[in-house]
Amino acid sequence: MRVAMIGSGYVGLVSGACFADFGHEVCCVDKDPSKIAALNRGEIPIFEPGLAELVAKNVREGRLSFTTELAPAVRAAEAVFIAVGTPSRRGDGHADLSYVYQAARDIAAAIEGYTVVVTKSTVPVGTGDEVERIIREARPDAEVAVVSNPEFLREGAAIADFKRPDRIVIGTEDERAKAVMSDLYRPLYLNQAPVLAMSRRTAELTKYAANAFLATKITFINEIADLCEQVGANVQDVARGIGLDNRIGAKFLHAGPGYGGSCFPKDTLALIKTAQDHGAPMRIVETVAAVNSQRKRAMGRKVIAACGGSVRGKTVAVLGLTFKPNTDDMRDAPSIDVIAALQDAGARIRAFDPEGMAAARAVLTDVDYARDPYDCARGADALVLVTEWDLFRALDLPRLKAALNAPVVVDLRNVYRPDDMKRHGFTYLSIGRA
Ligand code: UDX
Repeated sequence: MRVAMIGSGYVGLVSGACFADFGHEVCCVDKDPSKIAALNRGEIPIFEPGLAELVAKNVREGRLSFTTELAPAVRAAEAVFIAVGTPSRRGDGHADLSYVYQAARDIAAAIEGYTVVVTKSTVPVGTGDEVERIIREARPDAEVAVVSNPEFLREGAAIADFKRPDRIVIGTEDERAKAVMSDLYRPLYLNQAPVLAMSRRTAELTKYAANAFLATKITFINEIADLCEQVGANVQDVARGIGLDNRIGAKFLHAGPGYGGSCFPKDTLALIKTAQDHGAPMRIVETVAAVNSQRKRAMGRKVIAACGGSVRGKTVAVLGLTFKPNTDDMRDAPSIDVIAALQDAGARIRAFDPEGMAAARAVLTDVDYARDPYDCARGADALVLVTEWDLFRALDLPRLKAALNAPVVVDLRNVYRPDDMKRHGFTYLSIGRA
């Protein structure tokens, strides 16, 4: 099948490359000429394991191409995906849909023959209705169906998530569109991925409900972790003790500095707004968002406490800046708030991240960057581990201790074992472990 992917950001690029790998003919479109030029040179604008190889292979085999010209790509396609950004709108937290609607207008102008327009971007309930209205108003003659097909991939594991999804959600009541979507995803049937057909509005809401539920799960275990610290319990044992109950499930119960990234913070806010607008406020999700944003700064206070109550004039080494490992994404990363809290209290920051330092330079101020974890620790009065990159999981502890000015480690991801750290002579604080 021929596919046009409008928006060559994270979701567009991963989905486009994976569809091409399944044998479809995919043209990825983006308005940014420098991005398209880079992609045509074989440079991938984001860090995602395996993506560069997947793109190169499918370009070489002639199934994947990149262009700034939307019209010819759309004209040739049987399915057109909208995978543009839906950032939080400044001021009110609603999702900013201007890129989605612009894409709808551009698609309408170009459409030829029966075309299925698919929103893959995370969009509030009712956006598909508006996309359809825009297209039909501009082109009453067009044979078109608008489908919601939300994406559930995680950064850092995006290709595997796309190719082996837990489920595929298809929101449309148009039988012909259902058949087109079914052909597109047929290569996945081998993996027996369940395909859930539902109404378009239901599909749109399903994506928000999934992200809000996962954000709630994380926030729940984070609060249990705080309680563990007060009562002398161990949050990892609690997480295992509840997670083995199938009704709860073991995943997303890892306590930490609070969730970040491009999805959970933005999507919980957008869901809260939609719910308020419709007179059905989601008080649980409102609380989750508030608890999570307070938590990130509270992690700074935890480091200050570990340093004996003050970090004024001290140097704090920060390991890990991105919101999670295996990405260079700094969006809503907990490190931003932790570092701000420490700087406000008078600390100097030296930081290291395996892939995120270029992106970090754009959002953090007054930070020195180190060459590696030991260079980062050199002369520091405390070290805080914020992101659990594999590289930080087996640090040479005697070498780390020798590099530090004071052997204080605050491990916000519970990577190390308290008894090991004690044996090596560290003052060690972690999350939810007394
Ligand atoms: C998320 C959803 O998982 C994905 O389905 C959706 O399509 C996009 O949003 P992503 O933001 O890439 O994906 O990362 P994810 O692995 O879900 O982690 C999000 C945040 O939660 C990170 O900051 C992570 O560190 C944190 N987290 C995750 C925890 O603190 N504890 C956990 O147990 C899991």
